Amino acid sequence: MAETYHYEGLEAELYDSLDELADFEDFSFYQWFADAVAGPVLDLGCGTGRILLPLVERGLEVVGIDSSRAMLDLCEKRLSGAGKGAELAVGDMRNFDLGAKRFGTIMVPGFSIQMLLEDEELEACLSCCRRHLREDGQLIVPTHMPWEMIWDGRDSCPLEKRKEVELSGAGERLVALQGWRLDAQGQRLSLSNRYERRLANGDLLASEEKEMTLRWHLPHEMMQRLGEAGFSDVSVYGDFEFEPPEADSESIVYLARI
Ligand SMILES: C[S@@+](CC[C@H](N)C(=O)[O-])C[C@H]1O[C@@H](n2cnc3c(N)ncnc32)[C@H](O)[C@@H]1O
Repeated sequence: MAETYHYEGLEAELYDSLDELADFEDFSFYQWFADAVAGPVLDLGCGTGRILLPLVERGLEVVGIDSSRAMLDLCEKRLSGAGKGAELAVGDMRNFDLGAKRFGTIMVPGFSIQMLLEDEELEACLSCCRRHLREDGQLIVPTHMPWEMIWDGRDSCPLEKRKEVELSGAGERLVALQGWRLDAQGQRLSLSNRYERRLANGDLLASEEKEMTLRWHLPHEMMQRLGEAGFSDVSVYGDFEFEPPEADSESIVYLARI
């Protein structure tokens, strides 16, 4: 199987400030479903704990798996800062084995499933989830449709500024720039990301460039893969709104039961 993409260096360090998910309003969706089924919860690709930490703060037992040590270290730091704890492990969502432990909820927040580019990687991940789910459990998998790029009409866009954040007190500015290439036929979006840390006067302190490819899955493909992995009861929601998706929904969330 392909090597996993590695979040490390500036990309990991600045994730909570610069990633577009930092301001994304999806937590109440996960919270509602996690509260509805007895735990424990497994957060696959938990990253720095954007969803994991507030779930733990609600008193839920959460296990977090991520392939990046750097992201897990940041998650651990946030947990201890909040006086909380959770079981965290470096692991691969395509191939993990937590022994006899079974979960009431397994979730893959932040569209991390789209980092699995090949069909067999998605199949492997869904099968692992199925094995670790209790009979009454639920799997929550959001996917993202890059309508912004598809409707743009171009098949690529050069690097441009996406986000800028002032670090109050530190006299620093953090800047995220992004360019992209779209392969509509192959359902792949390649992102060129540049992360910068600058002084308030604009002087560059550090920078990093990374390339990432994401695959988007159409609803009928996801339904087929979920069915093949043993999920027979699947509800589909649009944009974390507790309603079916619209034709232009950017987020399509699958809630799958056995
Ligand atoms: C876009 S971030 C999402 C992080 C977090 N879930 C959130 O919503 O903020 C993707 C995360 O998935 C992790 N990841 C990517 N491929 C993985 C894999 N095969 N197994 C486990 N984690 C993976 C990355 O290290 C990163 O932390």
